[in-house]
Amino acid sequence: MGSGSRIVFPCRAFSLAFLVPSFTSSTQLSLKYFLAHTSLPPTAFSFLRMASSSSSSLTNGNDINPSNDAAAPSPPSASSAIDFLTLCHRLKTTKRAGWVRRDVQNPESIADHMYRMGLMALIASDIPGIDQDKCVKMAIVHDIAEAIVGDITPSDGIYKAEKSRREREALDHMCKLLGGGSRAKEIEELWMEYEENTSSEAKIVKDFDKVEMILQALEYENGITLCKNVSS
Ligand SMILES: *[C@@H]1O[C@H](CO)[C@@H](O)[C@H](O)[C@H]1NC(C)=O
Repeated sequence: MGSGSRIVFPCRAFSLAFLVPSFTSSTQLSLKYFLAHTSLPPTAFSFLRMASSSSSSLTNGNDINPSNDAAAPSPPSASSAIDFLTLCHRLKTTKRAGWVRRDVQNPESIADHMYRMGLMALIASDIPGIDQDKCVKMAIVHDIAEAIVGDITPSDGIYKAEKSRREREALDHMCKLLGGGSRAKEIEELWMEYEENTSSEAKIVKDFDKVEMILQALEYENGITLCKNVSS
């Protein structure tokens, strides 16, 4: 029963916010109302509750650093978390460009790719000296800047340096949206490490990136073969 409510309540909390197209004060009020009348599990959505108890962060919208706890390494406020997550929605709707270019029907999204890389990191056997949790986290953020810049591929005629510059700028914007703070900093560090290939975890996650793509390519190939077998 307890685990059931854990699944249901977060979904309801989010549907309230996501059903409203822009984050007006009425969105925030309804979210606040919901939070005031619902007992959320203590961990999963604590950032929403924390923010709802601070009326200034809700009424000010983007003012994510109320002065009373500016020094604490706090999670993002509800409004900045929702803005960030709304932007991340594009990761779910942006198709991976490599498949689009190869005319794959209904190809996977950037989020699809990152999600399965996250699973790969999660099920990988222990490697001495490798922080597995960090690999999972890195896998699910390594393409996050593409929420803004899209999936830029060599065929777009954009040089690697320019791609990297645009992505850094996008990442910076997303971290600011999240209100800076320790969570944003972690995302930025994970992304930078991956981008610059500067840690053992980054090198492994880059391998996962390739393996996931190869697996997906095989699946598309098999899918196409299966369709042909069915129709012939
Ligand atoms: C990352 O660094 C390792 C060496 O430390 C190298 O073998 C690998 O090719 C690099 N990967 C990329 C994508 O630059």
